Amino acid sequence: MLSFWLVFLSFTSSLTATGSPDAVSGCPDTCGNVHVPYPFGINFTSEISYPRCALNNSEFMFICNSTYNPPQLFFGENMPIHHISVEEGTISVKIYAAYNCYNNRGLFASFSQSISLGNGLFRFSDSRNKLTVVGCDTLALMEDATETFGSGCLSWCETDMTLQGSCSGFGCCQTSIPKSLKTLNISLSSSTKHSRVLQFNPCDFAFLSDERTYNVSSLQLSYNPYSSATENFVTSDVVIEWVVREETCEVARSSSNPNGYACGDNSKCLYSVNGQGYRCLCNDGFTGNPYLPQGCQDIDECKEPDKYKCDGTCKNTFGAYTCRCPLGMLGDGKVACRGFRVTTIAAVIGAILLIMVIAFLIIIIYKRRRKERNFLENGGMLLKHQRVRIFSEADLVKATKNFDASHLLGEGGFGYVYRGFLADNTQVAVKKWKDLGKTLLNQEFQQEIGIVSQVNHKNVVKIIGLCLETKVPLLVYEFISNGTLFDHIHHKRSQILANWKNRLRIAAESALALDYLHSLADPPIIHGDVKSSNILLDDSYTAKVSDFGASVLISPGQSTMATKIQGTIGYLDPEYLMTGNLTEKSDVYSFGVVLVELLTGEKPNSSRKTGDKRNIIQYFLSSLENHTLHRILRFNVASENEMEEIEVCAELAKQCLRSSGIQRPTMKEVAEELGRLRKLNRSSWDHRQSSQETEYLPAESSYSTIEVGTSKMSQNEILRLRTFDIEYSTDNI
Ligand SMILES: *[C@@H]1O[C@H](CO)[C@@H](O)[C@H](O)[C@H]1NC(C)=O
Ligand SMILES: *[C@@H]1O[C@H](CO)[C@@H](O)[C@H](O)[C@H]1NC(C)=O
Ligand SMILES: *[C@@H]1O[C@H](CO)[C@@H](O)[C@H](O)[C@H]1NC(C)=O
Ligand SMILES: *[C@@H]1O[C@H](CO)[C@@H](O)[C@H](O)[C@H]1NC(C)=O
Ligand SMILES: *[C@@H]1O[C@H](CO)[C@@H](O)[C@H](O)[C@H]1NC(C)=O
Repeated sequence: MLSFWLVFLSFTSSLTATGSPDAVSGCPDTCGNVHVPYPFGINFTSEISYPRCALNNSEFMFICNSTYNPPQLFFGENMPIHHISVEEGTISVKIYAAYNCYNNRGLFASFSQSISLGNGLFRFSDSRNKLTVVGCDTLALMEDATETFGSGCLSWCETDMTLQGSCSGFGCCQTSIPKSLKTLNISLSSSTKHSRVLQFNPCDFAFLSDERTYNVSSLQLSYNPYSSATENFVTSDVVIEWVVREETCEVARSSSNPNGYACGDNSKCLYSVNGQGYRCLCNDGFTGNPYLPQGCQDIDECKEPDKYKCDGTCKNTFGAYTCRCPLGMLGDGKVACRGFRVTTIAAVIGAILLIMVIAFLIIIIYKRRRKERNFLENGGMLLKHQRVRIFSEADLVKATKNFDASHLLGEGGFGYVYRGFLADNTQVAVKKWKDLGKTLLNQEFQQEIGIVSQVNHKNVVKIIGLCLETKVPLLVYEFISNGTLFDHIHHKRSQILANWKNRLRIAAESALALDYLHSLADPPIIHGDVKSSNILLDDSYTAKVSDFGASVLISPGQSTMATKIQGTIGYLDPEYLMTGNLTEKSDVYSFGVVLVELLTGEKPNSSRKTGDKRNIIQYFLSSLENHTLHRILRFNVASENEMEEIEVCAELAKQCLRSSGIQRPTMKEVAEELGRLRKLNRSSWDHRQSSQETEYLPAESSYSTIEVGTSKMSQNEILRLRTFDIEYSTDNI
């Protein structure tokens, strides 16, 4: 119970913590648990002494009594030292308390404390020590030995009470001590000798105590110093301040001072009013022992961020440190930096840029993939090896002014044809499919590409190149300037078709092209959609067959192709319509229709304007049978010879139009026959020109002549035509 006097000491030396040397080299710096820094030295009782280890042997040499375990350092004779602080200039010692104890006979035990710090450099700390008095009928007096100072403290109470952590006058009082005090006598007295409070407060206590460490709440009025449990602990902490010498800093620093200046490098002199002398202190930014020549060492503040704040880039300097705010931020880095860190901003910008770059790459990769996919799907690999030019989408967009309506040449079921100008000013026709669904489109496209890329004939429109990057592939053809035969027959009624000669020529040229496709191209090709609007006329009005969208390649050994029915009403082979088998003879039929169109100037799928509701084919066949062909011709017939040619041609058309394919002539035969007629026509033209004959009248008025001509068809010619029939019959039976 009486362990209350025990004062727990939890001092740690800030000097030992720094690790810098704290004593003269070769000198011991600890006694038991106590660190002894310079200017203090240790006089070991059991060993040899170290005479040069203290600044002044008579003042700063403390005896370390090794008879104690652990050895104990003493201030004077009986004050054990438990802490020395160079930084604060203090020594903490333990001192016995003064006490008076009473019983019912009166005072029976008494101890008056008399402390002397000697003549020298030590004083009681007036700032940290307080005279503390405990008791309920107690007067404590303190005075210095020279009786120049005296003070006291009276505590009075009549009932037992707990002190409850404060020393406020009830059972406890405290009073300050003056400065520069070197000696102190403490004595106690009691006015009633505790007669009224004996039961709960037998003893009075008075002691000096360090305010910083003393725990008032541990005090109890009932304490008795004679309890065996507390015998050794009737002590308190007393803080003693010291100075190096009783000089002012000016005197100490002056060169004439015989004692010299005690402070080392990077330290300053501090005058103590209490001690009336100076002591040393390391400058700001330095730490260590200021009494040693190189004791004060620079603090690396950057290594102690807890103690030295730095919000930015810390840099240690000699005796200080700098702290620069990060780039882009303002303020004192030792306090706080404001704004966003450049690294943060850079990171954000970097992240945004990175995202943009990635997005950009993804788009590029996606586009390229799409183009490559389209290219492959559109048969790019196949075509790469063929002699067609591969255009980029951009080329063709530029060439057609982004497929502007003003560039539109024509529109069909398949798609659109645009006129375009390539970079080298070549005119081209760009065919753009309507998006008819992937498979159909792909199939048709592949088909057309496969066909046109290998066709090379002067009467077939040439493909220049293609573009496979787009979803809907684009084909680039040579530009045929004079439009379609269909237009010339039905819309323009152009001069070029005013005579038979040109009509025959166009028919012959078209037949050559189709013959080429059927028999010379490898593999053979069925055009599949022969009609006047697929026969184009170039700037010299040469016929060129175009549009292979419906065409079919024939494998070796294969004579027919089962396909889905497609073509143009009016030109469609009725047999193909019924069987679904597209053959070369289907082209022959369609060509027959074109011949009829050339002869009659009527659209094959229209009725005659005269009101006759019959199909033009039937009308043509019946007029041929009735020998009234001359009535339906829509051009000038120049001569009787010419009329004969027309009759032969009409007969040829009739054969082409036979409902049974095998009975139709082949395209080769048709082409040869038309070629022969052309030769005839040319020679008769020459003959006519040389004989200065006048041109024949228009068809309407010259039918009689022509009728005569019909019967004049040469035996040879008829034979030839018959031969076709026979050939066909024999071929196909
Ligand atoms: C050490 O202490 C002893 C005994 O008090 C004393 O005789 C001696 O002179 C001291 N030595 C020094 C160096 O102060
Ligand atoms: C040591 O201290 C004493 C007493 O203060 C003084 O007389 C003496 O001159 C001092 N010695 C030295 C070397 O400073
Ligand atoms: C050391 O302590 C013992 C026991 O308290 C004492 O007898 C002795 O005199 C002390 N020695 C010195 C040198 O003070
Ligand atoms: C202080 O105490 C000492 C030792 O007990 C004594 O010699 C001295 O006379 C006292 N001084 C006063 C002023 O009481
Ligand atoms: C003071 O002493 C009381 C009672 O012994 C204890 O509860 C308290 O924690 C102590 N306070 C300090 C700061 O040591």
